[in-house]
Amino acid sequence: MSDHILIFDTTLRDGEQSPGASLNVYEKLEIARQLAKLKVDVIEAGFPVSSPAQFEAVRRIADESDVIIAGLARAKEIDIKSAYEALKNSKHPRIHTFLGTSDIHILGKFADSRYGVSLAEKRKTVLKMSFDSVAYAKTFTKDVEFSAEDAGRTDITYLAEIIEAAIDAGATTVNIPDTTGYNFPAEYGFMIAELKKKVSNINKAVISVHCHNDLGLAVANSLAGVQNGARQIECTINGIGERAGNASLEEIVMALKVRKDICGYHTGINSEEIYTTSKMVSGFTGVIVQPNKAIVGDNAFAHESGIHQDGVLKDKQTYEIMTPESVGVNKTKLVLGRHSGRHGLKARLSELGYHLSDQEMQKSYEAFLVLADKKKEVFDEDLRVLMGDEIYKENQLYELQYLHVNAGTDIIPTATVQIKSDKEVLQESSTGDGPVDASFNAIERALGFKPTVESYNVRSVTSGRQALGEAIIRIRSGENSFTGRGTSTDIIEASAKAYLQAINLYLTFSRRDLELSENNLEIKQV
Ligand code: KIV
Ligand code: ZN
Repeated sequence: MSDHILIFDTTLRDGEQSPGASLNVYEKLEIARQLAKLKVDVIEAGFPVSSPAQFEAVRRIADESDVIIAGLARAKEIDIKSAYEALKNSKHPRIHTFLGTSDIHILGKFADSRYGVSLAEKRKTVLKMSFDSVAYAKTFTKDVEFSAEDAGRTDITYLAEIIEAAIDAGATTVNIPDTTGYNFPAEYGFMIAELKKKVSNINKAVISVHCHNDLGLAVANSLAGVQNGARQIECTINGIGERAGNASLEEIVMALKVRKDICGYHTGINSEEIYTTSKMVSGFTGVIVQPNKAIVGDNAFAHESGIHQDGVLKDKQTYEIMTPESVGVNKTKLVLGRHSGRHGLKARLSELGYHLSDQEMQKSYEAFLVLADKKKEVFDEDLRVLMGDEIYKENQLYELQYLHVNAGTDIIPTATVQIKSDKEVLQESSTGDGPVDASFNAIERALGFKPTVESYNVRSVTSGRQALGEAIIRIRSGENSFTGRGTSTDIIEASAKAYLQAINLYLTFSRRDLELSENNLEIKQV
C-alpha cells in the first residue's frame, strides 16, 4: 500500500460554511491559486447547485486551475448535472456526490413514505440512491467521489454495503465523514479498518477521511483513519468549517511530516507555503486565527518564559519540534516604508503569495504609497490587508470618494458621504448614535438600501498608534449574508469602507444571480 497521502482541501466549500466566512469569487480565485502553490492534490471549490455565485466560483476556478477540482452535489440529478456544468472545462474534474446514511439522517431526511415505510425499506432506497447517483455522475467524468454523510454514526454493516455499491457504480474515492465530530480516534480508525475487511471491492477506490472538530478530535481522527488504511484526508486551512470546523490542513500535514519516524507517510504539500495560505484565508474570510493555534497561531513559535528562551537560544531543538521557516514563518520581517521602491514592494508581495500584472502592480504601488504616507512602517500584515482591499476594488460598483464626520463629546454626530459609481455621484448626510452609525446612515441614504447588520468588529492589524485598523462587517439580505472589510489608519473610515464593501458584494451578486438565471442555467437554491 502506498505511503502517499492525498490532501483534499475543502476550505472553499466546507470551510466557507463557517459562520460569516462568505468569500466572493475573486477571493476564491486567489485562494485557489495559493492552494495550488501549496500543492494540495484536490481543491473542492464549492457546491455549484446551491447558488449562482457558488456555481460561478467553481466554474472560474475549474477553468483556470491545473489541480483536480471537485464540485459537491447531493445524490440528485439536478445537483450532479450542475456540478458537471460548472466543472466541464476543468483539466481534472471530480464530481463529489453525497448522501446521509446513518439511521438518524435516513429517518430525518427521508421521512416521506415514497422512500419506504420502515427503516429497512428506507435503507434499501438510500442504498439504491447511492448507486444511482454515482452511476449518473460517472456519465460525466471518470473521477467520482462518494461520501456517506454521517458515516461516523452509521451502522458499520450497512455502511459497508453502501460503500460496496458506490464502488460497484464506479466511485474512485469513497469518503467516510464523521460529519458531527462524534467519533473517538480508536473508534474511527476501527471503522476504516472494518471497511477494508468487509468491502470486497475496496481496493478499487481510495478511502478518504473527512472529520469535523466538535470534540476537538478532527485531526486525531483523520490520522487514525490514515493509520488504518485511508489515503486521502479532507481538511481546511486554519481548520475553518461548519460549527467547530474541519480538520486543519496545517496540523495534519505537519503531524505527518514531524512524526514521519512513527508513521512513515508523506504528502506532496509544500509546507513553506502554509503560513501565507493561512494568512490569506484568515484575511479574506475575516475568521481570525486564535493566537495559540498550532502551526499558524501568532504564539506557535513564541517562547515566553526565561527558561524556554534560554534553552532555544542555546539549541532550538530544546523547545521546537519544527522550525518556523518550515511552515513559512519568516522571523526576520522586512519592513517597508514610503521610500521603498516598486521593486521592493513587488518582491515582498510575491513572497507573500501575490503575483500581480504590471497594471495591478501600478495600482497596488499607488495604494501602498498612500498607506506609507499615513503610516511610517508598513509590515507584512499591512500588505496582506492592502492586497485584500485591492482585489476587492477591481470589482466594486460604488466607491467611497469622501467621508466627513463631525463628532465629539457634546455634539450630535453627523456624517456626510460622497459615493461614486460608473453612472452617478451620490452625496448624503445623516446623524447617528455615534460617528460610525452616522456614516452607515449616510451610506444607506445615498444608496437607498438598508440591510440588517449581523455583526461588526474592529481590530488593529499591527501594533502601535499608527496601526492600520480593520473593520469587518456582515450584513444580511434575505437568505444571504455578505462580509465586507475595510482598512484605514482611521477606524471610522475603515468601518464605512467595510459597510460599503458588504453592500457592493450584495449588489454584485444580486446582479450576477439575475444574469445567470436569465441564462437558464437550471440552478435552484437548496
Ligand atoms: O461533513 C460532511 O459530511 C460533509 C459531506 C458533504 C462530505 O461535508
Ligand atoms: Zn463536512
